[in-house]
Amino acid sequence: MADAAIVAEGLGKCFGPVVALDGVDLELPVGGVLGVLGPNGAGKTTAVRILATLLKPDRGRARVAGFDIVERPAEVRRRIGLSGQYAAVDPFLTGRENLIMIGRLYGFTRRRARSRAGELIGQLELTGAAGRLVRTYSGGMRRRLDVAASLLAAPPVLFLDEPTTGLDPYGRLALWQVLGDLTAQGTSLLLTTQYIEEAERLAGMVVIIDHGRVVASGTPGQLKDRAGGTGWNRSLRPARTRGSWQAHSRRLARGNRRSMSQRAGSSCLSQTGREFFPMWRPGWPPLVCTSAGWLCAGPP
Ligand SMILES: Nc1ncnc2c1ncn2[C@@H]1O[C@H](COP(=O)(O)OP(=O)(O)OP(=O)(O)O)[C@@H](O)[C@H]1O
Ligand SMILES: [Mg+2]
Repeated sequence: MADAAIVAEGLGKCFGPVVALDGVDLELPVGGVLGVLGPNGAGKTTAVRILATLLKPDRGRARVAGFDIVERPAEVRRRIGLSGQYAAVDPFLTGRENLIMIGRLYGFTRRRARSRAGELIGQLELTGAAGRLVRTYSGGMRRRLDVAASLLAAPPVLFLDEPTTGLDPYGRLALWQVLGDLTAQGTSLLLTTQYIEEAERLAGMVVIIDHGRVVASGTPGQLKDRAGGTGWNRSLRPARTRGSWQAHSRRLARGNRRSMSQRAGSSCLSQTGREFFPMWRPGWPPLVCTSAGWLCAGPP
């Protein structure tokens, strides 16, 4: 596809005996938003790192912003922004200093770097904390600063690896607003997420990865239809009460820590009780657990 922001075919990557990616195809049109969902260890971060040229694939090929990721990595890097899964800002600078420094590294004038930093600090609601050392920030504040850093240069293609994990509902809404504005201005966005509602809110297309393979893809509407025609809310299993869910999640966590993270458990039991997150057990079709019960997010 000549005008795709991202097109990947058959990406494969192994880490020793671990098959992290096993032939993943992805496509993101220019100006689109692709949501990549999957359980812990599915291969989401590996796919992002490969597409952002931080890691070479063992097989397959991909083009980002029109350039081959293996043959022309420098051209790719010039056109992308990346916010990794773990905040990468300098703890011994203030939030504002971090953004100004990164702006200068991009080649902005001091004035331009200051003004862009100020804009993003406002948009991501960091105004009160901008003058404090980042090592005094909460996890959610660091996360927002890290995302701000990835937005500084307004790159045409943006990768965000679980951008809202750890954010409170206000932080998440503020970030959704910023991302919505960016994509409305034409930025192509690939984001990984554990939250179906986030993908639904932001993404035109959703891909679900499990064990390094794409197990379902489509628009959020198509995935909803496959889940039962009336939305995400068709339970395939009896709804669990919070108490029974807690007991269930403890059992799962004991039996298989990788497939049932504490993070996912705390999300389900959050105050609203209405958050969605994807969860799988080995051998099951792609499933989504909500506080209302279990949903199938792909072909059964
Ligand atoms: N550098 C590495 N060395 C060895 N194994 C790795 C490495 N990076 C990833 N893996 C393995 O590859 C698989 C996919 O990992 P990846 O980080 O891509 O998953 P993920 O979908 O991002 O998971 P999460 O939701 O927990 O962030 C996992 O089994 C992981 O342990
Ligand atoms: Mg990851």
